[in-house]
Amino acid sequence: MATTTHLLIIIIFTITMTTSSTSLPSLTMEQNQIATKIIDAMISSGSFEDWSGAFLNSNDEINGPVLTSTLFLPKTSVEGINATSSLVVSYHIVPQWLDFSNISLMKPFSRIPTLLSGNFIVVTNNSASGFTLDGVLISEPDLFVSPSIVIHRMASPFNFSRYGRCDL
Ligand SMILES: *[C@@H]1O[C@H](CO)[C@@H](O)[C@H](O)[C@H]1NC(C)=O
Ligand SMILES: *[C@@H]1O[C@H](CO)[C@@H](O)[C@H](O)[C@H]1NC(C)=O
Ligand SMILES: *[C@@H]1O[C@H](CO)[C@@H](O)[C@H](O)[C@H]1NC(C)=O
Ligand SMILES: *[C@@H]1O[C@H](CO)[C@@H](O)[C@H](O)[C@H]1NC(C)=O
Repeated sequence: MATTTHLLIIIIFTITMTTSSTSLPSLTMEQNQIATKIIDAMISSGSFEDWSGAFLNSNDEINGPVLTSTLFLPKTSVEGINATSSLVVSYHIVPQWLDFSNISLMKPFSRIPTLLSGNFIVVTNNSASGFTLDGVLISEPDLFVSPSIVIHRMASPFNFSRYGRCDL
């Protein structure tokens, strides 16, 4: 039963991924520079817990230009997903302002482009009681919201090896 469901999900994934792709307008040189600065700060912070402080300090309109963006902040760590990997960091940042009201309108299998080139976060369940992205529950939606930045807390880190590529 579990295997059948799993297989079905993979089939649906494959069909949807070839039909509905959201593409991201490419970032300007300045946006890329800010993104690099943010990613470096988060890598140096050393842990998921310290990601939010590093993100907010390096992406602060008072101290310089801001990258309009959304951070998915893992609540717990998971063996095998390293908070100091630039790939992991990049995959948890979406260069768009998406508060929970934006995300809650997305249909299952919608793909959200991330700073990790060619890798998307996938809406896996859009029910109000259990809204998941990449199979991970949004445990605290809209944890932080400013005019240019949103942070959502996730129950655990995303696994881009499993969900990130569009061409599954
Ligand atoms: C995480 O990555 C850093 C830098 O690549 C490495 O030094 C560290 O050992 C890694 N930690 C784990 C738990 O894999
Ligand atoms: C998110 O929601 C706001 C307010 O409803 C809207 O103005 C904005 O266009 C939405 N953004 C996206 C990317 O859909
Ligand atoms: C979505 O989550 C809800 C609440 O946790 C659950 O009842 C439902 O079965 C889930 N739907 C899918 C397609 O997994
Ligand atoms: C991430 O996904 C890959 C591919 O599905 C899998 O091999 C790996 O075990 C997953 N890692 C974690 C920490 O779940």
